[in-house]
Amino acid sequence: MSDARAAFVHDGIAFGCDYNPEQWSPEVWDEDIRLMGQAGVDLVAINVFGWSHLEPREGQFDFGALDDIVNRLHAAGIRLNLGTGTASPPAWLVRAHPDILPMAEDGTRRYHGGRQAWCPSSPAYRTAALRLVRAVAERYGDHPAVALWHVSNELGCHNALCYCAHSAVAFRAWLRRRYKSIEALNDAWGTAFWSQTYREWDEIEPPRITLSTRNPGQVLDFRRFSSDELLDHYRSEAAIIRDVSDAPVTTNFMLTAHIDNLDYWSWAADMDVIANDHYLDHRLADPTVELAFAADLTRGVSRGAPWLLMEHSTGAVNWQPLNLAKAPGEMLRNSLVHVARGADGICFFQWRASVQGSEKFHSAMLPHAGTDSAAWREVCELGAIAGALDDVAGTRVEAEVALVFSWESWWATQAESRPSHSIGYLDQVHAAYGALYALGLTVDVVAPGSDLSRYKLVIVPGLHLVREHEARVVTDWVAAGGTALVTFYTGTVDQDDRVWTGGYTGPFRDALGIRIEEFAPVAPGTELHLSSGAIARLWSERSTATTATVVASHLDGPAAGTPAITRNDWGGGQAWYLGTMLDAAAYRELLATIADAAGVRPATAHDGGDGRVELVRRTGAAGSYLFIVNHSAQSVTADASGRELLTGQDVVGTILVPAGGVRIVRE
Ligand code: GLA
Repeated sequence: MSDARAAFVHDGIAFGCDYNPEQWSPEVWDEDIRLMGQAGVDLVAINVFGWSHLEPREGQFDFGALDDIVNRLHAAGIRLNLGTGTASPPAWLVRAHPDILPMAEDGTRRYHGGRQAWCPSSPAYRTAALRLVRAVAERYGDHPAVALWHVSNELGCHNALCYCAHSAVAFRAWLRRRYKSIEALNDAWGTAFWSQTYREWDEIEPPRITLSTRNPGQVLDFRRFSSDELLDHYRSEAAIIRDVSDAPVTTNFMLTAHIDNLDYWSWAADMDVIANDHYLDHRLADPTVELAFAADLTRGVSRGAPWLLMEHSTGAVNWQPLNLAKAPGEMLRNSLVHVARGADGICFFQWRASVQGSEKFHSAMLPHAGTDSAAWREVCELGAIAGALDDVAGTRVEAEVALVFSWESWWATQAESRPSHSIGYLDQVHAAYGALYALGLTVDVVAPGSDLSRYKLVIVPGLHLVREHEARVVTDWVAAGGTALVTFYTGTVDQDDRVWTGGYTGPFRDALGIRIEEFAPVAPGTELHLSSGAIARLWSERSTATTATVVASHLDGPAAGTPAITRNDWGGGQAWYLGTMLDAAAYRELLATIADAAGVRPATAHDGGDGRVELVRRTGAAGSYLFIVNHSAQSVTADASGRELLTGQDVVGTILVPAGGVRIVRE
């Protein structure tokens, strides 16, 4: 990565959107650009779905309209997040090469007419896409308006898992690189089971749907392969751009609860800036907490460096069963949560609400109702705030707590055959994060095996798949004086999905000082009562404390009489274990105790808000900024001193943050 690309260089906090001018006539473009100026928009993503406009017929390019819009935006001082345009192939390409269409696990094709209808391993798609990328990169590579390259769009959103013949060929090649010999593959997948042994590489197929459950090792490797295959596609587009342009290159990630297709830990190093798309998911128990988690995860993937919120929504989306509008002020508050948690830019999908197509009921900065609308006024208010936060850009978030997160564990936890379908990986992650959130603590999300030396407390929720050295990083750090909380289902299998024997939690077992003999999940709706008075659900296990102190045990249920929460002295530190799914209040109480013992504190003291207050500090060479976001219906007081940036007032000692309000104090 050259220095020019080392960071996404922008004057302050970027404010912008996806813009799809191809859906509108040029008269509308004039109004759009005038209103963008009014709202304070300074970064616009264009050409994201441009292919069929730029290349109406194979090899015939027409850049007229794109040149026009690029030049108009540039003349207005708006910088470009320029799409390569490859996200959705045009109809002529599909007609010429029907084999680019992706295949579902049941062997049926998915057709043109939606989007992203391409197999990540299709040679014909790759050839045509790279020809387009070269044409776009050569045309605009040194255009002064290009601030950032936007490769494809949300790679793997719909097409990550393709089971076609091209995917089979690529999967075999990937497996040969990974295992070298067919014997090693048979060993890793445990193919001795059910007569699945392979003798030739060509016998191996993608894990298409079977009558019984599929080989879990094969399924897990297919997830890894599929993530790598799309990364390879990203790299091939990025390489062409880097050939002819010095502008930074990225693609928009989907660090969000409902998409698990890519292992973003392995993608991060190829991005010049990490960019994320985040939408509130109202199918979750607490979408606001998930938003904070996703922002922290994005910062984790960015290794602490500032990142860009490439898309979110001003109001409702269109793709959930019930698409809720945001309450007045919610969009502004949520946008500033992203900034508090490390974003140096706030962008939306999209600029002007579509009137046709699948997304016509998706909110936008400029709604169907026009500028005489609450949504538009809030957009303009946010744009003005973004302009006042310029000095925040480049600062970094401070955290004393780390939470270990793993896409591989997420995948392995979904194995078709497992102890309980009521236990999900994210449920455990969100429960732990939610308890820390309610305490107002800032959390860094880290990859398994990451250095933990800067933290006081480490949480390892449900890390089902773990390599020995990844566990050792945690247990050695505890031995050196750290405090960790490990929760159930952690350390169950190794990287090949092979069970760690001798008592569950495998490589964590000695440090935890417990021995788990048997999992004993319970049905949803069953309450488990603990000796501490806490209520738990869904999970228990028959275990004994070997060296650990029992903090709470099960009073009832299939594991009655055995430990549910333990604490073990390990070297100079303490390893806590939670062997059940605590109710939120009890989880919060447990983490309050552990955080207190570890000496972890919120970014500042506060009063009120009932666990719905976010307190985050961003620090840099020029100073520090305390963000206080009050999602509650009551006002909150917090300790703070300095200049408040939204009101322009000086604060001495304490600040009042109104219900639903945000305050940012330059300390
Ligand atoms: C994604 C896509 C956008 C749009 C939005 C709608 O983020 O990248 O093109 O479809 O979803 O929420």
